[in-house]
Amino acid sequence: MPVSSEEFRAALSRFPSGVTVVTSRDEENRFHGITVSAFCSLSLEPPRVLVCIEKTTGSHEALLWSRTFVVNFLSEGQRELSERFASQLDDKFDEVEFSTGIDGIPLLSGCLVTLECRITNSFDGGDHSIFVGEVETATVNDGDPILYFRGDYRSISA
Ligand SMILES: Cc1cc2nc3c(=O)[nH]c(=O)nc-3n(C[C@H](O)[C@H](O)[C@H](O)COP(=O)(O)O)c2cc1C
Repeated sequence: MPVSSEEFRAALSRFPSGVTVVTSRDEENRFHGITVSAFCSLSLEPPRVLVCIEKTTGSHEALLWSRTFVVNFLSEGQRELSERFASQLDDKFDEVEFSTGIDGIPLLSGCLVTLECRITNSFDGGDHSIFVGEVETATVNDGDPILYFRGDYRSISA
C-alpha cells in the first residue's frame, strides 16, 4: 500500500535542512525568488548542485526560460526573507536589498553563501522538476545558517 500524503509529509518534515532562496529572471525581465529547502550538492568535478522546483510556481517557468539561477543560503537572521519568498506577494523584491549577478539575476544581501549557476540539465520529478546547475561563482560569508525542521525555523546555536 502506498504511503499516505499525511504520513509522507510527517516523515519528510523530520529531515532538517537549511533554507535557500533561488532567484531567477523571466523573459519579460521580471525577477523571481522562491524559498527552497530541496537543494543538494551534486558533483565536485564539475561543480554542480540541484534544486527541486514545483511546476506550478512562477519560478519554474522562469528557470525553464532563463537557463540560469542563483542559490542564496539564508543566514540565521533572515527568516523574514524565507517567509517573503514563500509567499504570493506581487513584488517579493520590494524593500529587499540585493545586487545583480549572472544574467542580471538578484543576489540577496547578507546571505551566508551565494552560488551563481548555469543550468545543464532538467528532469521531471513528479509535481516538481529537478534543475541541475553548474556553479560559476561561489561567494562565502561568515555566520550561521537558518534551519528548518518539523515546519518551523530553528537556530543552530539554540
Ligand atoms: C521552508 C520552505 C521550504 C520550501 N521549499 C520548497 C522547495 O524546495 N521547492 C519548491 O518548489 N517550493 C518550496 N517551498 C514553497 C515555495 O517557496 C512557495 O510555493 C512559493 O510561494 C513559490 O513562489 P512563486 O510561485 O512566486 O515562484 C518552500 C517553502 C518553505 C516555507
